[in-house]
Amino acid sequence: MTGYSRQVEQLVGEMTLPEKLGQMTMLAASLVVTGPPGPDNPVTLVQEGRVGGLLNTWGHDEIREAQRVALTQTRLKIPLYFGVDVLHGHRTIFPIPLAEACAFDRDLWRRTARLSADEASRDGIQMTFAPMLDVCRDPRWGRISECPGEDGFVNAEYARAKVRGFQNDHEDKKRRLMGVAKHFVAYGAVQAGRDYAQVDVSERALAEIYLPPFKAAVEEGVCGIMPSFTDLAGVAMSAHRALLHDLLRVKWGFNGVIISDYNAIAELMLHGVAADLAEAASLALKAGIDIDMMAGAYENGLPLALERGLVSMDEIDACVRRVLHMKEQMGLFEDPYRGLETQSPGPDVMPQHRAAARDAARRSLVLIKNRGELLPLPRSIKHIAAIGPLADRQSELMGPWCMAGDERETVGFLQGLREVFAESEIIHAKGAKVEGEIEPQLVAQAVAAANASDVVMLCLGEERQHCGEAASRTRPEPFECQLDLARAILATGKPVILVLATSRPWILPDWLVEGSQSILLAMFGGTEAGRATADVIAGDYNPSARLAISWPFNAGQIPAYYNMRSTGRPHDPNNGFSTSFIDAPVAPRFMLGDGLSYTRFELGSLQADPLVIDESSTLHLSIDVQNTGGRAGEATLFLFIHDPVAQVTRPSLELKDFAKADLNPGQSKTIRFALSADQLSYPGLDLKPRLDDGRIDIIVGTSAHGRDQKRVSVEVKRKS
Ligand code: BGC
Repeated sequence: MTGYSRQVEQLVGEMTLPEKLGQMTMLAASLVVTGPPGPDNPVTLVQEGRVGGLLNTWGHDEIREAQRVALTQTRLKIPLYFGVDVLHGHRTIFPIPLAEACAFDRDLWRRTARLSADEASRDGIQMTFAPMLDVCRDPRWGRISECPGEDGFVNAEYARAKVRGFQNDHEDKKRRLMGVAKHFVAYGAVQAGRDYAQVDVSERALAEIYLPPFKAAVEEGVCGIMPSFTDLAGVAMSAHRALLHDLLRVKWGFNGVIISDYNAIAELMLHGVAADLAEAASLALKAGIDIDMMAGAYENGLPLALERGLVSMDEIDACVRRVLHMKEQMGLFEDPYRGLETQSPGPDVMPQHRAAARDAARRSLVLIKNRGELLPLPRSIKHIAAIGPLADRQSELMGPWCMAGDERETVGFLQGLREVFAESEIIHAKGAKVEGEIEPQLVAQAVAAANASDVVMLCLGEERQHCGEAASRTRPEPFECQLDLARAILATGKPVILVLATSRPWILPDWLVEGSQSILLAMFGGTEAGRATADVIAGDYNPSARLAISWPFNAGQIPAYYNMRSTGRPHDPNNGFSTSFIDAPVAPRFMLGDGLSYTRFELGSLQADPLVIDESSTLHLSIDVQNTGGRAGEATLFLFIHDPVAQVTRPSLELKDFAKADLNPGQSKTIRFALSADQLSYPGLDLKPRLDDGRIDIIVGTSAHGRDQKRVSVEVKRKS
């Protein structure tokens, strides 16, 4: 008994070896967007039963045609499945994950995944290569834009929300997407942020930081896992049996499919751990990879590996069963054209999708500076200059992986401003290209526009091509020509609202931060980025997002993040022999949790109950938060712990929970948190969870800074 259906067993029994290997193969169709070029004619491959699923194709005609061939022209008539990187939207594009993480809003994360699933499923897609859960502290890495930031706990909460939204939220099964959590594991720690480079992190870092998001995804029932391209301490992840098989499958009980990354199995030869395709394929199979994406390694390598006795037919059959079972779960045997009865709606057809995108973008936008309360701007303002190479470049605001996104449906900053400040005169000047030589006449036009205005919205940033895969930068900072423009605009003396449309934290010069009166970290906000930004500028939305990623002062500070471990010489500005730089601060410029609101929130004292706990206790915490300013707004509260004495060094702060509270002026609410003893434990010397007797500090604040944090200490007294 294998636990699979009769249909699965019957098919496996009837299949030839090439047909089995076909089911274990995923190929890119015509719309290939990454990696080496796809096969010339996927249709022939489908006819010959040499492919089980296609990636990067969608739409009624494309999917129907490929499926028709599979159902009518192959021997066993097994339907194909279709997978796409639906990371932050399908047709309607939501903010990039690094921006959406800043909302610290589980409901939002879930909602946008659900809407993405709705749209993608109507385009014939059943699988998304998401969520991407690569905790990253290195803005040099282009793919930082795809991840939910620097903290393992935030990544884990994001994982749960996204898996629910993609896979479970729709009553109607055909509207669901199967998630593939990626890239397992620690891809975000590539050396020097150089994409595809080596990874060498400790077992402790894996246990504390990099594995928990994947564990959370598996606990939520994620259907697939994709190993990363990289190695981990010398073991290529596509061949990592200890992590893929022993940990993921056996210890965590993951019973979904493991899908290789693009061409990754063949790349085992380039990693230098396989002499030929047969060895590469057998390493991947033995490690636990069920599906070979684009390497042709299973199709061409496994027959030889069988001959050489490197693998067995049973091992191959186990993968085929998992793939066929997945197709059953997708409902493809019942309805191979599932989802295709109506067209994918998209923002222009579905006003509620647009509204959701605008809401998501507003909730993701971080107001990091607002000197003299320049913002929000009054509607009565007469002249606003919209300046900068990103002011009118809506296509860039869709960010990476905006597969079916359409720039014509996307609203840029200029358009958003024009609509929201309909009574004001908006003067537009590009001022500079995104990158390249400075063009004096463009700068002169921009300076003239600034001089003719009451306030300047200066939109600096990147293009889509500067971020995502294979877009690492040693200098994650504004391009020179943009800095020249900014200098000229600041020199006009007009108040400047700096809007940064970036995919990653940027290293900002001090003069730019100091000279700008307000700074909005808009990042890439998607389809409604422009309107959302204008909503915040006008005060129609009171900003509530907080950074999920720290912004370093300079590249030499990388990695800079909030939860550094204690050292024997903790940083002390008055002691030269404490951990410091002599030329830069230790803390990043902006830290996790930073972000402003147009109102003020005050915290009451933090209460804990009980004050003495043991290993079976649940600790209840409560704190009052009051809106003491003049506008309604949403407070974001962070709950950290600090364990002052443990077997191993602990971070000065560890995030354990977060919550939001919507408050009218004067209103206060009591926010409650509950922590299990488990959540207070840490991986001990042997990496097993450990809780020691003694004090643990609980800290609640509106950021990771000390300013308004409230503390309480509890005593652990174990029973055993
Ligand atoms: C990326 C994956 C992606 C795959 C399919 C690869 O290059 O690393 O994240 O899912 O392509 O598009």
